[in-house]
Amino acid sequence: MFGRVKPLDAILATAEKKALHRSLGAFQLTMLGVGAVIGTGIFVLTAEAAQKAGPGMMISFIIAGMVCAVAALCYAEMASMVPVSGSAYTYSYAVMGEVLAWMVGWALVLEYAVAAGAVAVGWSGYFVGMLAHMSDYAPFLPNIVIPHDLAAGPSSGGLINLPAMIIALVVTALLVIGTRESAMVNAVLVVVKITALTAFVVLALPVMKGEQFVPFAPLGFSGISAAAASIFFAYVGFDAVSTAAEETKNPQRNMPIGLMGSLGVCTVFYLLVAAGVVGSVGAQPLLASDGSGIAPGSSELTAACHAIGDQAVVCSREALAWTLRQIGWPQIGNLVGLAAIMALPSVVLMMMFGQTRIFFVMSRDGLLPEVLSRVHPRFHTPYVVTIITGVFVSLFAAFFPVGALADISNSGTLFAFAMVAIAVMVLRRTDPDRHRPFRTPAVMVVAPLAIAGCFYLFFSLSGYTLALFAIWAVFGLAIYSLYSRRRSHVGLGKVEVHEDDPDAPPMAVAPMPGAPAPGDPDE
Ligand code: ALA
Repeated sequence: MFGRVKPLDAILATAEKKALHRSLGAFQLTMLGVGAVIGTGIFVLTAEAAQKAGPGMMISFIIAGMVCAVAALCYAEMASMVPVSGSAYTYSYAVMGEVLAWMVGWALVLEYAVAAGAVAVGWSGYFVGMLAHMSDYAPFLPNIVIPHDLAAGPSSGGLINLPAMIIALVVTALLVIGTRESAMVNAVLVVVKITALTAFVVLALPVMKGEQFVPFAPLGFSGISAAAASIFFAYVGFDAVSTAAEETKNPQRNMPIGLMGSLGVCTVFYLLVAAGVVGSVGAQPLLASDGSGIAPGSSELTAACHAIGDQAVVCSREALAWTLRQIGWPQIGNLVGLAAIMALPSVVLMMMFGQTRIFFVMSRDGLLPEVLSRVHPRFHTPYVVTIITGVFVSLFAAFFPVGALADISNSGTLFAFAMVAIAVMVLRRTDPDRHRPFRTPAVMVVAPLAIAGCFYLFFSLSGYTLALFAIWAVFGLAIYSLYSRRRSHVGLGKVEVHEDDPDAPPMAVAPMPGAPAPGDPDE
């Protein structure tokens, strides 16, 4: 099973057939990255990170950013060498065989679908907050209070998070009719997000007080590690940059600039925003009677917050808007909220789009039922897989808290990133002469660092998250052995080469290595 690899040449034939115009430069790549990365992580999870680490969350942001930087350098080598859809799943198939590829694809479901749910819940927090402050926007508008029961899932003391569920379904509908975000819309939303974060930093930093940073790490280094593992979510999405490798001019130069540039921009903003929150309103966690930190997203935290009239940033579901209201800038706080409401749906869209691509490619390889890769006759989109994904995302969004979803998503992403780093090292040994448009610098240092960093963050996730990951993995392996193993096209000796686009017709069937090509004179 481990020997079942999809020949790299067959995969690469796909890319050659596509021959996309190389038009993206370093700046466009950076914009693409920033567009996919900035979202619920900074706008919402800052409060969760504070509850886990206190002011020490600033260190958490740095740790998570560094792990992403080394992982991104490995990702870039694979992405530029194997620039086809399916990302980490495809790379693993070529290098480490079918079982591990299946596991990576299965883990990517967590990365993309569960992350989409998390971002939808983050959006809901800001949306509910905006409705409650409508009269601040214009005096004639009524304030609308959505009851807690309809704005939070059961573990946060509610029944169902209706706004989160609805936004997930709206995005699903957009994807079914074939909406893709244009570079123009992305650029506008990047400007909106950067402007909102800049306004936050400019207003919050001047009112910083040194004493708010003490105690710096009330829950010790384990709190900082736990917050780093959660806040890793804020950086996820930079892989969008690597998937554009094929459309990049001079990828050896521009790909690392795009990846490092977008990570750098985000890290700087994240640190400034975190400093602004800590310094202006304080970020001390709420503690249980035994001195331990109360779990974010739990009904215990909801109750503890209730007891103090929600007067702590760790209680807020719209941390940045809340902070600005506290320091006397309610209007700007509302505008920052509006920016989040405008920009977060595009992050949901990108995540769900990524998910449908992964499922689509897995189904095309025979590992998932073929019905999933059915393309809509009118919209030319993989509608079956999009609708199934959308239903699950909306259910995650309806019933789970944002932090739990982000952590589960991180477990899958960290696993996939570690696999990619391993694949890069393996391929350097097994196929050293293959052309690599981008080479990871100092790969024998960077790749092990990426693997170690991913494992460190993975094991800093809560026991509950790791248990869910294990259940998901066992469930995945069961499906693989009962269904996919027997139907795998590679296993059946069929290696197909397709266009990258889900709506494109299948391309010619490539021969297995050593077999005569169709139309070969000696066939
Ligand atoms: N990094 C993305 C976000 O924070 C997933 O929303």
